[in-house]
Amino acid sequence: MANAEKTLSQAIMGRRATPSFDGTPIPAADLLRILDAGLRAPSGYNMQPWRFVVVQSPEQKRRLRGASYNQAKVEEASAVIVACGDTDGWRKDLDLMLQRGRSGGMPESYADQARSSVPNFFSSFNSEQMKGWLNKHVMVAFTHMLLMAEVMGYDTAPMEGFEQDKVHEVLKLPLSYWVVALLGIGHVRGSDKYDGGRFDMGHTVFWEEYGRQMK
Ligand SMILES: Cc1cc2nc3c(=O)[nH]c(=O)nc-3n(C[C@H](O)[C@H](O)[C@H](O)COP(=O)(O)O)c2cc1C
Repeated sequence: MANAEKTLSQAIMGRRATPSFDGTPIPAADLLRILDAGLRAPSGYNMQPWRFVVVQSPEQKRRLRGASYNQAKVEEASAVIVACGDTDGWRKDLDLMLQRGRSGGMPESYADQARSSVPNFFSSFNSEQMKGWLNKHVMVAFTHMLLMAEVMGYDTAPMEGFEQDKVHEVLKLPLSYWVVALLGIGHVRGSDKYDGGRFDMGHTVFWEEYGRQMK
């Protein structure tokens, strides 16, 4: 069971990338709630190009660890959500997106326009551009899930340390899938990691134009 819920602000301020998990099982209802938070993320044209594979079984977590530079937390986590993007998603899902949109009130004029503008937009992408576009979108959904899990009292570990080909093989992913990141969820074992700190706003935020600091 997760602990009492935190506010979003508490979750953001108190989160750490979890170094090690205790492996206690996560209730299915909690996992579904976390996944649902991801699916509610915004996306360009509402194309929802993300795809997730939830890994919970000990055997599959062990295999996934082998595809993730042997990171122990992949095997220790209660669940690992493997966040992917589908490079062909826009082709497969355009009609579905329009159908859902129209039942929610999408104007017919917008639907008509999207029928041509969406294929025009995506068909000009080369493979690198598509991966960049997918990374952007999948990470929005990923962050929704990470924060929902933290709000629910879970600890999380985002991971980019994996080998694309090996994860493909372990999960039997279609060729059109691009693996973006892994999200370990569970309860921290032992103490949390040190706080690495953050750069001051003056270092990373500009006002009105590059280089200008807040008055
Ligand atoms: C997209 C992403 C990928 C990451 N990949 C890994 C990883 O593969 N292994 C790991 O131990 N930590 C990984 N981290 C965790 C970072 O090292 C950690 O977030 C950073 O050091 C700051 O620490 P904090 O999150 O506890 O503040 C990743 C974080 C992000 C956002």
